[in-house]
Amino acid sequence: MKTLVLATHNKGKIKELTALLDGLVPEIKTAEDLRLIEPPEYGTTFIENATMKAVTAMRACGYACLADDSGLSVNALNGEPGVYSADWAGHPRDFKMAMNLVNDKLGDASDRSAYFTSVLALAFPDGRVETFEGRVNGTLCWPPRGLEGFGYDPIFIPQGHDKTFGEMLLEEKQGMSHRAFATEKLVEYIKNNNH
Ligand code: IMP
Repeated sequence: MKTLVLATHNKGKIKELTALLDGLVPEIKTAEDLRLIEPPEYGTTFIENATMKAVTAMRACGYACLADDSGLSVNALNGEPGVYSADWAGHPRDFKMAMNLVNDKLGDASDRSAYFTSVLALAFPDGRVETFEGRVNGTLCWPPRGLEGFGYDPIFIPQGHDKTFGEMLLEEKQGMSHRAFATEKLVEYIKNNNH
């Protein structure tokens, strides 16, 4: 594989994936570089949405395309917002509001456990699609802490740590994030299959 397209316009995802995939393929392009549109997400699972985004981009540009569908699942909210994590931030995206919404819905629930999931879908020009999943467990804090990262990072404390993802520099988050774990599986697949 000479060129891999990151089928997303999300700057947080692009920053993390670009760093995680460093050295794997000679050239990485983004949806923005190729002026690809981000299709609406009608799926009800991370796998469905990631696959749809990767295949749509691959059909539009002809390169191998990698899409990430991810989100925050809160156990006391029966897994919400989950695949709807971006939607809870409205248009234009407002994650302060989305974090407030999560905290309001949680109220005084004693169970503040949550997890991030990332599903990466890799769509090849010959029609094959492979998916890779990563997950990180943690707890939610209030008020939000830290200015690093993106999305819900300022309220998520990964298990075994004191800092939120919002208080961690990129390299630290990359050592334990859902996206990093999914990418590890992707990298192993690419190396084992000579792509
Ligand atoms: P989607 O994959 O485009 O549906 O958007 C996923 C949404 O989940 C993002 O916009 C973020 O709000 C949230 N999300 C996914 N991964 C992370 C992360 O690593 N940190 C914080 N929020 C995340």
